[in-house]
Amino acid sequence: MDVSVEGKVAVVTGASRGIGLATAIELAKSGAAGVTITSRKPENLEAAHQEMVDAGIAPDRVLATAARADDVDDAERAMSETLERFGSVDILVNNAGTNPSAGFIMDVDLGAIQKTWAVNLLGPLLWSRAAYKAGMEGSGGSIVNVASVAGLRPSPIMGAYNVSKAGLIHLTRQLAHELAPKIRVNAVAPGVVRTRLAGLLLEDEETTARIHPLERVGEPEEVARLIVFLGSDASSWMTGAIVPIDGGVVGASSSGIS
Ligand SMILES: NC(=O)c1ccc[n+]([C@@H]2O[C@H](COP(=O)([O-])OP(=O)(O)OC[C@H]3O[C@@H](n4cnc5c(N)ncnc54)[C@H](OP(=O)(O)O)[C@@H]3O)[C@@H](O)[C@H]2O)c1
Repeated sequence: MDVSVEGKVAVVTGASRGIGLATAIELAKSGAAGVTITSRKPENLEAAHQEMVDAGIAPDRVLATAARADDVDDAERAMSETLERFGSVDILVNNAGTNPSAGFIMDVDLGAIQKTWAVNLLGPLLWSRAAYKAGMEGSGGSIVNVASVAGLRPSPIMGAYNVSKAGLIHLTRQLAHELAPKIRVNAVAPGVVRTRLAGLLLEDEETTARIHPLERVGEPEEVARLIVFLGSDASSWMTGAIVPIDGGVVGASSSGIS
């Protein structure tokens, strides 16, 4: 099946590398009329823009604008710039994420926890509100949140991150409920994917791979294809869904009991 987002305009947060950049490329290759890529650092975005052009995407179909995921003014400005350049906002991918808060949750620095929750949980709400005001309220659209299997169950070391992703999963369902029928809101829940964010887990890739029934970690492009599907009309009867994409961690792992 060919999944098309022909003529649609997408905004992707955290798109300077990893899953976000792979998603921006996949959206453009699937026909998006325009893709706005955002992240904090202009130099990273410039490199990402060049990578998209190297992948065969016309430079004028990409708008790169620096914007913090946890900043309401940045979110609104990115939407205005997108409207000015491409005329609409049809798909929002809340992908930016951070995890500076590893450790026993009783001990982790409170500032690090606040940052994690601000970027991973409050951020998607701020950007969803900005997209709503930028036209989705009237014309409809599709919002895709990048959650994590870490939001589906507790695990050691990443407690604050896990809670942020659990919150994002509930935010997805809440927004799906409130914004239906015009706007669909879904989330992907990846297992370990080969990106900078997963650096620590990839140091011993063999052990990490064994956690996944498919015996390997994921690649950003594999997650990107699912995000594009959820952003597109091919998923037109889906909203409030949390879709694991995790090499079988959620659906095919043994309970270990018998
Ligand atoms: N990799 C995994 O194993 C995995 C698994 C499950 C879920 N996820 C989720 O997937 C999403 C993408 O992560 P990734 O793995 O692709 O990581 P990544 O390669 O490290 O990319 C993170 C992106 O977010 C941007 N970013 C970070 N903090 C930001 C902020 N405060 N405001 C705006 N942009 C910010 C970064 O760019 P700048 O540095 O330029 O800001 C970068 O573009 C995250 O939500 C993550 O939680 C990842």
